Amino acid sequence: MFAIREKLRLSENVFRLVLEAPHVATSHKPGQFVVIQLDDEFGERIPLSVADVDRAEGTITLIVQVVGKTSRMLCSLSVGEGVAHVLGPLGHPTHIEKRGRVVCVGGGIGAAPVFPIARAFKETGAEVISIIGARSRELVIMEKELSSVSDKLIVCTDDGSYGRKALVTEPLKELCEQGGVDEVVAIGPPIMMKFCAETTRPYAIPTVVSLNTIMVDGTGMCGGCRVRVGDEVKFVCVDGPEFDGHLVDFDLMFKRLGAYKDIEKEKDHQCRL
Ligand code: FES
Repeated sequence: MFAIREKLRLSENVFRLVLEAPHVATSHKPGQFVVIQLDDEFGERIPLSVADVDRAEGTITLIVQVVGKTSRMLCSLSVGEGVAHVLGPLGHPTHIEKRGRVVCVGGGIGAAPVFPIARAFKETGAEVISIIGARSRELVIMEKELSSVSDKLIVCTDDGSYGRKALVTEPLKELCEQGGVDEVVAIGPPIMMKFCAETTRPYAIPTVVSLNTIMVDGTGMCGGCRVRVGDEVKFVCVDGPEFDGHLVDFDLMFKRLGAYKDIEKEKDHQCRL
């Protein structure tokens, strides 16, 4: 069993879990994810991004949003309880190379996987500007962590209850206009990643997006994470989770996501009955 060491409710539906998983903690690299299986009987596997690791403690930090049956069950566990399996680290790590200036954008719980990436770029000596966005103040996460590895942190909220009242694309566009941005990494809701990519496209700034939110079970077999990237069909859990944001066919992805949302709603409904 992989025990929960710490649990903190960050907002109504978002929890921070610190989980014992030494095999992941020692080898995880920014950009990689894990797959959790709650128990052997209830076999659903859910892929989750890793927000941080503590190699000395052998723990990983997960930011989990309750979106369906399994994430609800995971977040209902208490400290000391645990999950049956933590598979990983999985997926290709972020390509980190020395850059002059990198902008890291995290929308909603996307701020969690952005943190280790921003830190890794900072460790190469890059200037890191981070932008985090949320609907309102209570949904802003990872502010302290990202602030500690960024030369500048811009917080945006949709309703203006904290930081700047703006979508993350506004400050991103301003930074693009100022010039000198060598790379953008954007992780968050698919619609946000699409518009981040559209924002940087006219400036030809390399833009990496992480499509981890569209994975279903992370096995490479269900086909649920199929995306078109340029002329190729890719599987997020096998070929990603990160891709060139300028090549991802987001519109096709949105159609597929719509179909899965209905299935997830149905499962969640059954879980509550
Ligand atoms: Fe099932 Fe990738 S999540 S194939």
